Amino acid sequence: AAKSEQGHNAQIAPSAPTVAAKTLTILYASQTGNAKGVASKLEQSAKTAGINVVLKNIADYKAKALKNESHLLIVASTNGEGEAPDDAIEFHEYLLGKKAPKLPNLSYSVLALGDSSYEFFCQTGKDFDERLKALGAKQVSPRVDCDVDYDSDCESWTASIVESLKDELTQSSAGIAPVIDLPTSGAESQYSKQNPYEAEFSLSQKITGRDSAKDVRHIEIDLGESGLTYQVGDALGVWFENDAALVADLIATLSLTGEEKVKLKVNGANQVFTLTDALTTQLEITQTAPAFVEFWAKISGDKALTKIAADKNTAREYAGEHQIIDVVKAAKTEIDPQFFVESLRKITPRLYSIASAQAEVEEEVHLTVGLVSFDTNGEPRTGGASSFLANRLEEGQKVRVFVEHNDNFRLPQSDDTPVIMIGPGTGVAPFRAFMQEREARDASGDNWMFFGDQTFTQDFLYQVEWQNYLKSGLLTRMDVAFSRDQAEKVYVQDRLKEQASDVFAWLERGAHLYICGDANRMAKDVHQTLVEIIQEHGKLSAEQAEDYLKSLRSNKRYQKDVY
Ligand code: 2AM
Repeated sequence: AAKSEQGHNAQIAPSAPTVAAKTLTILYASQTGNAKGVASKLEQSAKTAGINVVLKNIADYKAKALKNESHLLIVASTNGEGEAPDDAIEFHEYLLGKKAPKLPNLSYSVLALGDSSYEFFCQTGKDFDERLKALGAKQVSPRVDCDVDYDSDCESWTASIVESLKDELTQSSAGIAPVIDLPTSGAESQYSKQNPYEAEFSLSQKITGRDSAKDVRHIEIDLGESGLTYQVGDALGVWFENDAALVADLIATLSLTGEEKVKLKVNGANQVFTLTDALTTQLEITQTAPAFVEFWAKISGDKALTKIAADKNTAREYAGEHQIIDVVKAAKTEIDPQFFVESLRKITPRLYSIASAQAEVEEEVHLTVGLVSFDTNGEPRTGGASSFLANRLEEGQKVRVFVEHNDNFRLPQSDDTPVIMIGPGTGVAPFRAFMQEREARDASGDNWMFFGDQTFTQDFLYQVEWQNYLKSGLLTRMDVAFSRDQAEKVYVQDRLKEQASDVFAWLERGAHLYICGDANRMAKDVHQTLVEIIQEHGKLSAEQAEDYLKSLRSNKRYQKDVY
């Protein structure tokens, strides 16, 4: 039976009670909000076509209801190493587990979002798709696997889905006016990823010391009259341009002039650019996909590169350590400029966790940006967006931005609820925002911050602010781990462990737990430490401790913003 949460069934004419309008259920599994955005657009298109739609975060969906569904669409992101996003873990476990029912009456399709530079590209979407098929469900439209520049693939999948479901899903409710809901979220900004706001860049300040191994900037951007608003926990999307010197070097290496005309699809329409402009504003040249390594190995015929490209893991590692120019320099060859630009990925904006609260900074938005920089064969290389923000933008210049909402990283509803924040390195950013927000709200809940970095004197980001919060009492406790100030490495998880009984006591009295920063190692190690703490102090088995964290997660008490 169709669910009636959104009152759609109330629209069915009483004279036709047996012909229940079929409902299309759309589930999204998002980590940073991309899948949610795509699912919302799909919802709007389906509604416009007259289809009854229920849109849900997969975390809020009772998987047992699957057997009652007739039409299901899933938009699923995949985390870096092929794992399901936090919100989808339970559903994923259920669907792939033994208890999942046969689904012969279900029509479905999956849209998978991922990053093709990872081995397990779009794995979560693939898992859902294959498993639904195995359970007997009928695929109405093939799964589409989208890469980081997903917009146009998503649009065509959405259009084809709506087209193929339209007749079937509007037929049974013939004669019933389509239910077109107005957006419920109130005044959404007119600015978006594809239509960013040209904000004013107002400040870049280095906040690591002169002798630090790192260069971290405190950045301030002015949202002016845009009307753009954000909540603490949100991210700012930043479009950037590539470094002119790097572009010139790349063009020279290709023995081209930069004046050559090339054609690129922009928002679905062909546009002509000079090669220089295309490489500066339209294409990724600081990130290299393994597919490019393979492409360049093929067209250059270079032996060493061919060997690297032959193994997926080697190719990915090599791509991660080399920019486009390095690959091109490794095996110089001639290429048609049009062919070259078609081998590159479209530039995508970078998302930075916002480090401020509007209650404190009003129309400003602050970021904490670590400059990515390394050497390749003795040549200095920097990250595209981070070097744009840190080195190339000057005060007063424009930067194209948009707000990326993240409902998976929110302060507790109640200002009395205690929070534990774990944010080493630039992972500190959203917690600076949390503190500003809690101060503005006069929130009485306890706040406990864990910060870590390499050294106390060089890398204590926003040190004075934290000290002031401690002094005022807003910050209840702060534990710091400076990994390189002593012979033995000390990390935030070591501090957590030292305070294990207090950490557990805070959790038992309802604390929310937040982790921000490195996903590959830190967040996993911290998670493992939390399991151990809960196991020991809750007198539980490892499995029960995992369940404890799982239930915190489904109650939105354990949230991660990791990258
Ligand atoms: P390291 O580079 O000295 O090893 C912020 O980048 C801080 O996180 C640094 O002090 C860094 O230490 C530390 N760090 C590195 N790996 C970590 C891990 N697995 N867990 C927690 N912190 C880690």
